[in-house]
Amino acid sequence: MATRVLSGTRPTGKLHLGHLLGALENYKKLQGQDAFFMIADLHALTTDNEGKTDVAANVFEIVIDYLASGLDPEKCTMFVQSEVLEHANLALLFSNITPLGWLERNPTYKDQIAELKGKELHTHGFLGYPVLQAADIAIYKAEKVPVGEDQLPHLELTREIIRRFHHLYKANIFPEPEAVLTQAPKVPGLDGRKMSKSYDNCIYLGDSRETVVKKIKGMMTDPARKLREDKGNPDICPVFYYHKLFNKERVEGVAHECRNALRGCVDCKMEMVAKLNEFLDPVRERRESWMKKKTEIRQILDKGARRAREVASSTYRQVLQAMGLVS
Ligand code: TRP
Ligand code: SF4
Repeated sequence: MATRVLSGTRPTGKLHLGHLLGALENYKKLQGQDAFFMIADLHALTTDNEGKTDVAANVFEIVIDYLASGLDPEKCTMFVQSEVLEHANLALLFSNITPLGWLERNPTYKDQIAELKGKELHTHGFLGYPVLQAADIAIYKAEKVPVGEDQLPHLELTREIIRRFHHLYKANIFPEPEAVLTQAPKVPGLDGRKMSKSYDNCIYLGDSRETVVKKIKGMMTDPARKLREDKGNPDICPVFYYHKLFNKERVEGVAHECRNALRGCVDCKMEMVAKLNEFLDPVRERRESWMKKKTEIRQILDKGARRAREVASSTYRQVLQAMGLVS
């Protein structure tokens, strides 16, 4: 039997190169399994809680990005979290058996509160974020969960909630889910820090060729290399890092010429960005073609939700039985 896989993306904006080489590559490898890829719109509401964001528009962006990255709706189930009511229901049931201490100790909780200052995050929903995530995973009896390292504490909490549920209700309904981490290295952003929307240093899947060229022109290089005659250090240069990803066959030559001041940074960037654009072309093409197919996209999500509901409602029924809520 194929392995049941579930993962999700919060629709808080467009996806970027870091997502493409990280999460999405990981998804693509697993899409031949019994894989569910969810747009976690309920999770987006834990931080976008002032009614100012057009969540539906963001959901659409993520589906387009999923499809552009090469995820195939014939091979996996793509759906929107809020269209499958059992997620919220199971989260409510789990909330009764989740001690507050587990949630308060959650490192991502503390980090996010610190990072997103200015937002009202002292809410029940935000503290309970991992309970909803546990429900997302458990409701599909997922065994593998492709995520980034930052999600490991949530996976651990999911297993703890599952164990506690089994123990309290003398049932054995859910497998203990395991994270599948991406092999891909972190992609630096234009300023050399981790690529992230909040740093405004991203290359988005939807960026045109011209936009990418413009962004790379402004990309950070070895800061000590002020003049063309200065020898550079490729090892600390994010442009060189991109050569390693997208211009593999020329890496040694580039490093040598940089170290000996045989190439200027502008030329170096132009050589790299041509390769980067070649890599992104098929993604852009798929993106553009899906943009014109809104009806088909709606159908993909409808079909996904139907399939997801089938699995979720059957698990939910087992949960109610185990808890003695139905006989
Ligand atoms: N918390 C995840 C993130 O921010 C998104 C998510 C929601 C998720 N539910 C999930 C990931 C279930 C894996 C499984 O990236
Ligand atoms: Fe970076 Fe290339 Fe300039 Fe060297 S030559 S510092 S690798 S951009």
